[in-house]
Amino acid sequence: MFIHKITDSIDYVGVNDRTTELFEGLWPLPYGISYNSYIVKGSEKIALIDTVELGHTREFMESLRLQGIDKIDYLIINHMEPDHSGGIPLVVTAFPDIKIVGNKKTIDMIKGFYHLMNDYLYVEVAENQTIDLGNISLKFIMTPMLHWPETMMTYCEEEKLIFTGDAFGCYGALNGGVVDDSMECSLYINEMYRYYSNIVAKYGKFVLSALKKLSSVEIEYLCPTHGPVWHSRLAEVLEITRRLASYEGEDGVTIIYGSMYGNTAEMAELFAISLSRRGIKNIRVHNASKSSLSEMLADALRYKGLIIGSPTYNTEIYPPVSHLVSAIRARDMKNKIVASFGGYTWAPGATKKIADNLEAMNFQDAGSVIMKQSLTEEVENNISEVAEKFCALFNS
Ligand SMILES: Cc1cc2nc3c(=O)[nH]c(=O)nc-3n(C[C@H](O)[C@H](O)[C@H](O)COP(=O)(O)O)c2cc1C
Ligand SMILES: [Fe+2]
Ligand SMILES: [Fe+2]
Repeated sequence: MFIHKITDSIDYVGVNDRTTELFEGLWPLPYGISYNSYIVKGSEKIALIDTVELGHTREFMESLRLQGIDKIDYLIINHMEPDHSGGIPLVVTAFPDIKIVGNKKTIDMIKGFYHLMNDYLYVEVAENQTIDLGNISLKFIMTPMLHWPETMMTYCEEEKLIFTGDAFGCYGALNGGVVDDSMECSLYINEMYRYYSNIVAKYGKFVLSALKKLSSVEIEYLCPTHGPVWHSRLAEVLEITRRLASYEGEDGVTIIYGSMYGNTAEMAELFAISLSRRGIKNIRVHNASKSSLSEMLADALRYKGLIIGSPTYNTEIYPPVSHLVSAIRARDMKNKIVASFGGYTWAPGATKKIADNLEAMNFQDAGSVIMKQSLTEEVENNISEVAEKFCALFNS
């Protein structure tokens, strides 16, 4: 059997999902996703950290069996979202003497989702409590709203390793290796921006509190529930997470537009050209009818400039752009330099509605350009003017 050793006493026992199209029914998975689970082998006792998604429990149980794991003392549950808790009933059935370890909220959720009502099954833990596995111990660090209320992390001091739940996770199934040392990671780093912006972004301040707690313990391995174990790139992953959680945008501008007949699209092209001519090098343009919401959110969160355009559609913002605008608001994005634009034919509405949304988020607004029907020299001049103001804010 192939055993994925992470350290002397910790093995990887997660599974890959290369069949699900949309994670949470929303987010595309072009490279799949992994559901990570880990075994911690102490001299006296064995703990399993999290399980896997319900549809993948067969491979999961098979991998435990093939690794010769015939006894597990503790099942630690760091996060109850069913992509990790789906295997709980099967694990409890296969290992009837097991104790499930979680905080009060976790245990309530297990009872609610899986109807495992016997209190003798549970060991309830709180901040900084530990359990002893013999030569090593596990300490629980409460990290609520990362990204559910019950989320916690499990720290192994002896191995300088922490099981982090979804924090530091990313889309992308694992392609043979588990620890980042053994793989080329650019795919996973890209997928981390998408994962964070899609799933975690609303909870930046909770992520920052968790990072503060982590800064007081020595860590060499971050073991998330999705994607690689971070070891050689640990500092980089912590920094990406800190930056995203602080809404500190990178140098770059995301232009997102909708267009039915190409008129608003022409405005988007002119905005891109105007920014490029003023020296902005990193520009990402998305047609909202074509790019996934997932990718657009990743760029919108990552870069400090954001320009949004839409034709007026039954007095409203064109639906795919409207969806994006509400997704940005739902994530409480901060610190953006913004502008808006769009076409109309008889009564404009969309651009003002976009601008109102951006204003409600306290972004720095460089202005709006509204175009009746099609491009004119005046519209071109207005775009240049707003681009000029945008660049002044961007470079200040
Ligand atoms: C279903 C539909 C609804 C529309 N609703 C409005 C509207 O409420 N007000 C308006 O001024 N134009 C409306 N329009 C016209 C478009 O906003 C206008 O033609 C615009 O130039 C289209 O931009 P595009 O070429 O980028 O698609 C509507 C067009 C369609 C197809
Ligand atoms: Fe989750
Ligand atoms: Fe997850």
